[in-house]
Amino acid sequence: MCGIIGYIGDKPANEVIFDGLTRLEYRGYDSAGIAVLEEGRIILAKDMGKLRNLREILVTNFPSRSSQGIGHTRWATHGRPSSFNAHPHGDCRGDLMVAHNGIIENYMKLKQALVAAGHRFQSETDTEVLAHLIESHYHGDLEAAVLKALSEVEGAFAIAVLHRAHPDQLVCFRKESPLIVGLGTGENFIASDVTAILQHTRQVVYLENGEGAVIRRDGVRFLDLRGQPLEKKPVVVDWNPVAAEKGGFSHFMLKEIHEQPQVIRNTIGGRTSEEEGKIYLTELGLSGPDIFRTQRIVMVACGTAYYAGCVGKYLIEQMVRVPVECDLASEFRYRQPLVDQNTLVVAISQSGETADTLAAVREARSRGAKVLGIVNAKESSLTREVDGLVYIHAGPEIGVASTKAYIAMLTAQVLLALLLGKIRGVLHTSFVQETIRDLKVLPQLIERLLANPEPIRALAEKFKDAHNFLYLGRGINFPTAMEGALKLKEISYIHAEAYAAGEMKHGPIALIDKDLPVMAIATNHDVYDKLVSNLKEVQARSGTVIAIASEKNAEIRQVTEHVIEIPDCPEILTPILSVIPLQLFAYYMADLRGLDVDQPRNLAKSVTVE
Ligand code: AGP
Repeated sequence: MCGIIGYIGDKPANEVIFDGLTRLEYRGYDSAGIAVLEEGRIILAKDMGKLRNLREILVTNFPSRSSQGIGHTRWATHGRPSSFNAHPHGDCRGDLMVAHNGIIENYMKLKQALVAAGHRFQSETDTEVLAHLIESHYHGDLEAAVLKALSEVEGAFAIAVLHRAHPDQLVCFRKESPLIVGLGTGENFIASDVTAILQHTRQVVYLENGEGAVIRRDGVRFLDLRGQPLEKKPVVVDWNPVAAEKGGFSHFMLKEIHEQPQVIRNTIGGRTSEEEGKIYLTELGLSGPDIFRTQRIVMVACGTAYYAGCVGKYLIEQMVRVPVECDLASEFRYRQPLVDQNTLVVAISQSGETADTLAAVREARSRGAKVLGIVNAKESSLTREVDGLVYIHAGPEIGVASTKAYIAMLTAQVLLALLLGKIRGVLHTSFVQETIRDLKVLPQLIERLLANPEPIRALAEKFKDAHNFLYLGRGINFPTAMEGALKLKEISYIHAEAYAAGEMKHGPIALIDKDLPVMAIATNHDVYDKLVSNLKEVQARSGTVIAIASEKNAEIRQVTEHVIEIPDCPEILTPILSVIPLQLFAYYMADLRGLDVDQPRNLAKSVTVE
């Protein structure tokens, strides 16, 4: 998943573009590049590695007079990370440059035809095929050449095109991969998402699939892939630009962990009436008959969002008494899933751009299921392909490892379960009122937890050289174990495996020895004794246990000396509290190991390709 930015206006393009790229770097960062148009000549600077490498090039030999250009940060799909594979890519003569996010599925066939026609390629990328394809159709009209080229392309793309013969315009289009247009005064912008241009404008147009624009200094013309004009209404982005900055924390991830109390308030905000015991999800988009017709619910998502759905399974089955299945979106989409008009599919996604989750939604809808999206990114692709929505209101999540979006997903699912359970007559008003009250207490419980991170940091110091970890949980906290293990894996690169604690005796216990630390979520109420037995089995085999336990639980210290205490709360809310020490533990482990917490190797913030 890559970051694209384009600028045409009256400021130095390389400064606007470079600054925008630094705000998009979380989207992909194995190489980056900028191309600007300077007095009829395109000047290109690109390099592999972090953006700071590019700054060197920009500072040493790059004109600053140009006021038109495009830029790109890359997460490699076709062609290994390298300077020659970095975008933007040009045509044979360097007359035009293309920055692209997505995958051209038929690029080999197109490339063979272009090579046969005499085109000479310099990279291994599918993107360069686009540049030569536009070149082959260019006869003076850039917009027409781009439209013709895209008509031959199969796959996903968000592109920005710069041509030396057109100092008055940039052309952009999107299909599947996200792209927005920022509207300024005497200047206009193209970007993969709003964080890249928020400091310049809040007036933004979200392009939909098959839409594009010709952007000039004095205005923007919107059109579809057939070249037909479009009327597009700008929206005002209400994000505070500072919200997308680090706010004094050493990493976005740590900042976002500390934002979680406020995030819960934002997720709940305006959606509950404790007095009446009511929940208001105004964009739910499901009628009473839809809700009563629902005979089963299927959660589809990827990664952390999938683990959030696994917690949702417990929440909804307990409060709505409807069977819930959780399916990895990448599996669901190819399974010929058994869903129909009596199935509610719930798609969970922070970015709303995850290709597998989008594909799963389309598969579900093609089979007649109603689809509900639980999403963070407003106006993202997913929000436009579902029947109903529950926004999680976590704000921009920049750290690649998801934290605040995860607990916002959990909180949103508690609200959803309360609403559905009430509508289906399963829940009494008194239970809804009590749970609303408990939810509203969570932010200060989290603040208490975050106020004293030292015990967690000390444990990270003790275990930072571990090579493997086992995470154990039961019931509603089995998904917590899976999410905690993922956090550790993706930012500290330590192998961590999550198991339902009851599974230990069916094999994994063979792994236990003094070199395999075991992280256990021991906050459960109804299966606590069983969990303690599992931990004693670990202890008996020289295993070292770290337990996340309620502060009221003195007994756990007979099982292990390594206890991370969390405030007590109702069992259905423990996944929201118990994951926070796991987030911090993973953060400190990665930081102590000197790793790049916010941009872990090989990862991207949103995987918009298969
Ligand atoms: C989470 O820490 C990971 N970065 C990743 O698993 C992520 O949750 C997954 O790619 C799904 O992303 P989405 O929520 O934007 O769909």
